[in-house]
Amino acid sequence: MAILAANWKLHKTTAEAVAWARAVKRSPLAHRAEVIVMPGFLQIPAVAAEIAQSPISLGAQDVFWEQSGAYTGMVSAAQITEAGCRYVLVAHSERRRYAAEDDEGAHARIRAALAHGLTPVYCVGEDMDQRNAGGFRRALKEQYDRGFGGLCADEARRVIVAYEPVWAIGSGQPATPEQASEVAAAIREGVGARTGLLEGLRILYGGSVAPDNVGGYLLGGGIDGILVGTASLDPIGFLALLKAVVGNG
Ligand code: PGA
Repeated sequence: MAILAANWKLHKTTAEAVAWARAVKRSPLAHRAEVIVMPGFLQIPAVAAEIAQSPISLGAQDVFWEQSGAYTGMVSAAQITEAGCRYVLVAHSERRRYAAEDDEGAHARIRAALAHGLTPVYCVGEDMDQRNAGGFRRALKEQYDRGFGGLCADEARRVIVAYEPVWAIGSGQPATPEQASEVAAAIREGVGARTGLLEGLRILYGGSVAPDNVGGYLLGGGIDGILVGTASLDPIGFLALLKAVVGNG
């Protein structure tokens, strides 16, 4: 089943979040993809209550690697799990940019998530300068080499990678399906070399995905699903995305 994950970033009041969940959970299409919604932390409990007994899964947008202690403002994997989440984003490019998260921190976050039964969705992606200065391979290799660190194949299989080129996020300029497939193949090869995971790594594409372009990514080019920001916010638009994913996934 294809994955369709909605990253709401810093959007939506609790009332708006609940209204979205109410609209989307009614769709019969929600059974035909792995739908994941990632609200802000404060909206998680209300969304969890609204989607209980529905096929929609819940994810958080960040996690800290320690479980408790003097870490003001942080949220632990145990707290995220307790709130009903099964997934968590790790090192989204906006966390890298605005909260100075790096690949070593990503590795610690991935380990903390795995230790608590959460599926980390590890975000990697090159910026335009890196792409122009010799391609995506070196920039991405650093990210997945450090992020996966010393994980064994069984641990690596439980991580989802989201390929999100920084230049494509929120820009209206998505990577082409061919570019996404090329990168996915490189990631699979690199993660395989590092961890011994030869098959089964799931990879999402994210960056300016919309209902009219989503289908192309799922046509057998090694992309297992989609991570979507802007186009996920309106429930009607999200259902249009879901319809296209189910049609092609
Ligand atoms: P976008 O964001 O769909 O608005 O480009 C994707 C993301 O940042 O996950």
